[in-house]
Amino acid sequence: MKPVEIKPNIYWVGGIDWDLRYFHGYLTPRGTTYNAYLIVDEKIALVDTVKHYLFDEMLSRIREIVDTTRIDYLVVNHVEMDHSGSIPKVMEVAPQARIVTSNKGKKGLERHYKKDWDYLIVNSGDEVNLGSRTLKFVHTPMVHWPDSMVTYIPEDKLLLPNDAFGQHIASAVRFDDELGWDIIHEEAAKYYANIVLPYGDQVNKALDVVSQLPVEMIAPSHGLIWRSYLPEILRVYRRWANHETEKKALIVYDTMWGSTKKIALVLQDGLEQAGIPVTTRFLQTSHISEIMLDVLISKAILIGTPTLNNGMLPSVSAFLTYLKGLRPKKRVGFAFGSYGWGGQGAKEVAAVIKEMGWEMPENIVNFQYIPDDQELQLAREAGKKLGEAI
Ligand code: FEO
Repeated sequence: MKPVEIKPNIYWVGGIDWDLRYFHGYLTPRGTTYNAYLIVDEKIALVDTVKHYLFDEMLSRIREIVDTTRIDYLVVNHVEMDHSGSIPKVMEVAPQARIVTSNKGKKGLERHYKKDWDYLIVNSGDEVNLGSRTLKFVHTPMVHWPDSMVTYIPEDKLLLPNDAFGQHIASAVRFDDELGWDIIHEEAAKYYANIVLPYGDQVNKALDVVSQLPVEMIAPSHGLIWRSYLPEILRVYRRWANHETEKKALIVYDTMWGSTKKIALVLQDGLEQAGIPVTTRFLQTSHISEIMLDVLISKAILIGTPTLNNGMLPSVSAFLTYLKGLRPKKRVGFAFGSYGWGGQGAKEVAAVIKEMGWEMPENIVNFQYIPDDQELQLAREAGKKLGEAI
């Protein structure tokens, strides 16, 4: 694919990673892109780069537009290697380029690449003049790393926010309206749930900054460029940043001999009796990163495990470790399970829910061996009460 001019003399020159299926724990069935942008003015700037193995692809796109030795600035919005991995090679073909980054960006790049490059450190509000355009920088720490910042070009009303507003989608098209809201919305939600979710407060601050700027295009570092669905993506980002959910329930469980599954199904029944739509995920068939999409929108989250070796099943433990790290807030939790003796598994789940600070209006349901009809009815009632509570 050729470079794509997204604004006059501003080009997408990134790389398309059609084969990526795993991104540090997150399944990416649609692949992804690493978006880099070349701004050609009296001075030339390259904003971000691509993962190291797509350097040649990016280089061929840049060379269709300019000689790389003419690049004056390499803006590094974020140090993570999916965006910085090609910097050493870029600096070989653009040796006079100054690296424009935050102070933390410089420190991060030094730790990664051990090179003595020429840096221009920028703070929030600083500008670099390219001739007829200005690059304006705003620090957005923790969206996604402490070094993260965004680049804004006021003359083009163009925001280059790096990870924020990204989606893991490899595609032959570059703009949101060329793929459609449904797919891009789902992938943006999955991306938010698996990567950005812990940083709601910081996202809110970034959204406050964005809301003060005239923006007509948002070009993130992954996936499609937003030009038609800007109000929609800004609206859902605000909801996600505020941990707003829908009146929905999510049941996540694993089972050894079917007892915990029986409880999961009657909990589902009880919730549905209270009028609550339920999504039920079995940890042997659903990946934890896919379940996070359900977590993002669900008010009630019910987690079930049998007891194995005096604790919860490892699959449930892995899910809870992932969930706890992503820090969803304002949820209602519920723990359930089954056991032969001891019964620690469901109690451990309840302890993690408590640690996450979620409300737990109902006591745990934890039955020995195989639940009888009376016990299943108790669980159904607990589900119904939980549904009524949300
Ligand atoms: Fe796409 Fe935080 O890197």
